Amino acid sequence: MAVSAKSAAQRDAALGASLPHDSAHLHVSGRASYTDDLPEPRDLLHVAVGMSTVAHAKIRAIDLSDVLAAAGVVDVCLAADIPGSNNYGPIVADDPILAAALVQYVGQPVFAVAATSVGAARKAAKLVKIHYQELEAILDPLTAVDKASFVLPSETLLRGDPDAALKAAPHRATRRVFVGGQDQFYLEGQIAMAIPEDDGCMRVYSSTQQPDEIQSLVARAIQRPASDITAVCRRMGGAFGGKESQAALIACIAALLADKTGKPCKLRLDRDDDMIMTGKRHDFVIDYDVGFDDTGRILGIDFELAARCGMSADLSGPVNDRAMFSCDNAYFLENVRILSHRCKTNTVSNTAFRGFGGPQGMFAIEYVIEDIARRLRMDPLHARRRNFYGTTERNVTHYLQPVEDNIIDEMFDQLTASSDYEARRREIQAFNAGSAILKRGIAITPVKFGISFTSTQLNQAGALVHVYKDGTVQLNHGGTEMGQGLYIKIAQVVADEFQIDIERIRIMAADTSKIPNASATAASSGADMNGMAAKRAAAKIRARLTEVAAQHFATTEAEIEFKNNRVCAGEQELTFTELVQLAWADRVSLSATGFYKTPTINYDRETFSGRPFFYFAYGAAVTEVVVDILTGENRTLRVDILHDCGDSINPAIDLGQIEGGYVQGVGWLTTEELWWNERGELGTHAPSTYKIPTCSDLAPDFRVQLMQGTANTEDTIYRSKAVGEPPLMLALSAFHAIRDAIADSDNPLPDLRAPATPESILNALQGTTNE
Ligand code: MTE
Ligand code: HPA
Ligand code: MOS
Repeated sequence: MAVSAKSAAQRDAALGASLPHDSAHLHVSGRASYTDDLPEPRDLLHVAVGMSTVAHAKIRAIDLSDVLAAAGVVDVCLAADIPGSNNYGPIVADDPILAAALVQYVGQPVFAVAATSVGAARKAAKLVKIHYQELEAILDPLTAVDKASFVLPSETLLRGDPDAALKAAPHRATRRVFVGGQDQFYLEGQIAMAIPEDDGCMRVYSSTQQPDEIQSLVARAIQRPASDITAVCRRMGGAFGGKESQAALIACIAALLADKTGKPCKLRLDRDDDMIMTGKRHDFVIDYDVGFDDTGRILGIDFELAARCGMSADLSGPVNDRAMFSCDNAYFLENVRILSHRCKTNTVSNTAFRGFGGPQGMFAIEYVIEDIARRLRMDPLHARRRNFYGTTERNVTHYLQPVEDNIIDEMFDQLTASSDYEARRREIQAFNAGSAILKRGIAITPVKFGISFTSTQLNQAGALVHVYKDGTVQLNHGGTEMGQGLYIKIAQVVADEFQIDIERIRIMAADTSKIPNASATAASSGADMNGMAAKRAAAKIRARLTEVAAQHFATTEAEIEFKNNRVCAGEQELTFTELVQLAWADRVSLSATGFYKTPTINYDRETFSGRPFFYFAYGAAVTEVVVDILTGENRTLRVDILHDCGDSINPAIDLGQIEGGYVQGVGWLTTEELWWNERGELGTHAPSTYKIPTCSDLAPDFRVQLMQGTANTEDTIYRSKAVGEPPLMLALSAFHAIRDAIADSDNPLPDLRAPATPESILNALQGTTNE
């Protein structure tokens, strides 16, 4: 696997260098402390949650007498015991922390119990007797559409005249496609520990992407001002969107019992409960109607998207907005209608997951492009190229944002050459002609992913930098570390600003008492936003230090240079530490805040038009697979990825994100299947039945390159580009390689559902895919 060295030589030591993750030495030795590893306070109580066993019902009566009588039990909490607001919905107030009179999914928390041990609490929670009056449950998005059951109103995005374009088109195709959901399957499950402090204050350690929301929702639940609550997260063992809004449920429950008992309380879900109780990626049913010409160019298209949101809105509004914004992927859609339904079902409330609706939107258009190509008997590569955005014309998205940084053609040129695409396509044709059972397939797919929160006001970040008298630095910013390498990147930025060794920088936990009102670390914007905020904070201190140095050397500020742990003016120099000590003696502040808001973005949510995204990140992938058409088993043989990180701050970290994102996307599209029974019970709630990719699923030949010479055209932190989510969608090439392998002249348009499990592949082969 090649990492292309960045222009590191022209840059200063830290920036652009492939420094290891700041916690790598702790991760590999088991010494990185996660929330559950924190020393447990005296008198700590352990919390377990009593969950609904039915999908939709009125609660007639709850009998907790056996729970209360069980060994080790100290207290319980019901909806009626909540002093403040019984709601943790991030946007809409439709997410009870504990169900009051109505349960809306199997697994919904109804009560919580605090006991002296984890075992005692979990055992006791099972002793409840709840009398339900069952109601009709809606368990899938199509039924929800039929019954007009929605968590939010349906939305339409319209550009041009799709009806006329469809009518006039020489070719027309329609299809219904299904794409499954996905569990975040973070290694560290959801957890929080709440510790009552002096005078009604509370400290909450939470595995969360959004400490700010933990602070505010806990405050509301226990009816305290936000200033009394501090939320802290040093790191998560993975989050992938699953801890953006829903970590608050766990934190609120722990806090409610800590408040009620006056004792520290910890709630750690076990894996099964975590998978049953907390939300996932939305599965979508997509209907399309496309009109196209003989060359494969799309003339008009009509999409209807039905997303399973589950029982509440959670983040489903912005998730589905992003799905609508992403239905173009890299293609110009001149006449388009997208109708988006946000379906309310009696299943767990779905939430953020890497890509945040983008993957589902791109899945839709990539399926369309493949179908067009197969109908016209052309290589899908050419249908893709035929529809790409242009650079001077055909370059405005369906939401009217001009695409100003388009590099997709160039990427396809480079990647088709480096992957030897055309020759391998011919080779595969020859192989398949002589092979009855093993069939190979190949596909190349692009990614264009909009960077910024689709909720414009979330695009802001803060930082707080302290320099100590010994010349060391504490770095605080609003971002959280979930394994993505955000913290090392920001440390690199600050090391560069001061021109000091990275070892001098102590990276601090995310803490609401240091950075107030921070947005979630999400939308891939962690480094872009917190990097800028931290740079600005450090720059303020550097400016003060520069003034001190100029006075000391009796020269102008323009003469002062920070370099290699030193500060010089011509021949004169001081160490960074000496200068810091001088500044301190001069009574100069060595602490500063920095703030950043993403410039230029704004759009009108009513019409879905404007500039929701600061810029786009691009990528392309070629995947080759082999499928056994008797069993549906398949393997990835080779993957070639070319990805755009702008001028990478840390190529090794970015490479890890690209590999990990791709593999996680392959899991979504091939092996990870969520299955609910007719009672709305999730059957796939453990790794025994829910299959995430493992090392052995990796392609034996896996080649990743960072695109060179693509400094961000926008003024981002060192002209880098966000990388957290976009690579996940490179996995669309794996799905379409499978479809390519199983398509033949008898079945040129296999009806393949995602995930393409062996069962789904066999159904597509036999024409038995059904609704
Ligand atoms: N990488 C790891 N190792 N673990 C994670 O949980 N989450 C992804 C991505 N990469 C995740 C990850 C998601 S959903 C997002 S939005 C980004 O990281 C968030 O971090 P960033 O903004 O710093 O890229
Ligand atoms: N991504 C992730 N989280 C979000 C977004 C987004 O675009 N918008 C609001 N929350
Ligand atoms: Mo990522 S889905 O924006 O947390």
